[in-house]
Amino acid sequence: MTYALETRGLCKRFGAIQVTRNVDLKVEQGARHALIGPNGAGKTTFVNLCTGMLKPSEGAILLNGKEITGVSPQRRVGNGLVRTFQINTLFNALTVAENLAIPTAQRLGKSWLPWGKTSHSAEVVTEVAKLLDELHLLPLADKKISDLAYGQRRLVEIAIALALKPQVLLLDEPAAGIPNGESGMILDLLERLPQDISIVFIEHDMNLVFRFAKKITVLVEGAVLTEGTPAEIRGDQRVRDVYLGRRHHG
Ligand SMILES: Nc1ncnc2c1ncn2[C@@H]1O[C@H](COP(=O)(O)OP(=O)(O)OP(=O)(O)O)[C@@H](O)[C@H]1O
Ligand SMILES: [Mg+2]
Repeated sequence: MTYALETRGLCKRFGAIQVTRNVDLKVEQGARHALIGPNGAGKTTFVNLCTGMLKPSEGAILLNGKEITGVSPQRRVGNGLVRTFQINTLFNALTVAENLAIPTAQRLGKSWLPWGKTSHSAEVVTEVAKLLDELHLLPLADKKISDLAYGQRRLVEIAIALALKPQVLLLDEPAAGIPNGESGMILDLLERLPQDISIVFIEHDMNLVFRFAKKITVLVEGAVLTEGTPAEIRGDQRVRDVYLGRRHHG
């Protein structure tokens, strides 16, 4: 079986500190795969290794069965491996549509010019409108990011990743910072994503994890503690001891 994303013996050391320990992760095609674990477990580091922002100390990363360990971050995106960030990364002075036009133009190989000031951007404009429509975000198209509620900004961040047409989408805490009980808007969006996109998501909001994930991997101190279905993870005493039973925050 060819996995959408696979890591083999992935290790990362910063000097004497080891933050990723021999991680073998297999993400199936069309996965809804959550990566959970306490603060500092190495979840974001894992995403940074997969996307090429960090170079592993040891191990290999495969995208659709092809090794990409030495491939540049840009080429990984071109090959369909796309991530979002734990912290907001939008252009606040631009509108939602403008924010989406940038990655869309990048993917289509067109230079991006200020909205409305270019004749060759018709394809970009059409693609942006289509994406916003699919995600039920058209009403936000002409709003400036700075005028959006925080949760809406997080939706736009996911939309930006989708504008790059990912095969594998890595979401680093898509609901971080959203008040308790309002993460439903993230879940609604995630449930609307095409089934053939393989999704790996990191989240501390366990409501979201248990409702969306089909498979969960638990990372503790850089290593995989265990993995299984949501029911298996919920019932695992070790997971309760190190994570689920404790107070935690994003
Ligand atoms: N550039 C770096 N140099 C040294 N240590 C680092 C570096 N980046 C991360 N770390 C350490 O690696 C560990 C894992 O960090 P990471 O951000 O991956 O955790 P996380 O699981 O995403 O945590 P959180 O749930 O809080 O987001 C932490 O102890 C962190 O301090
Ligand atoms: Mg993190």
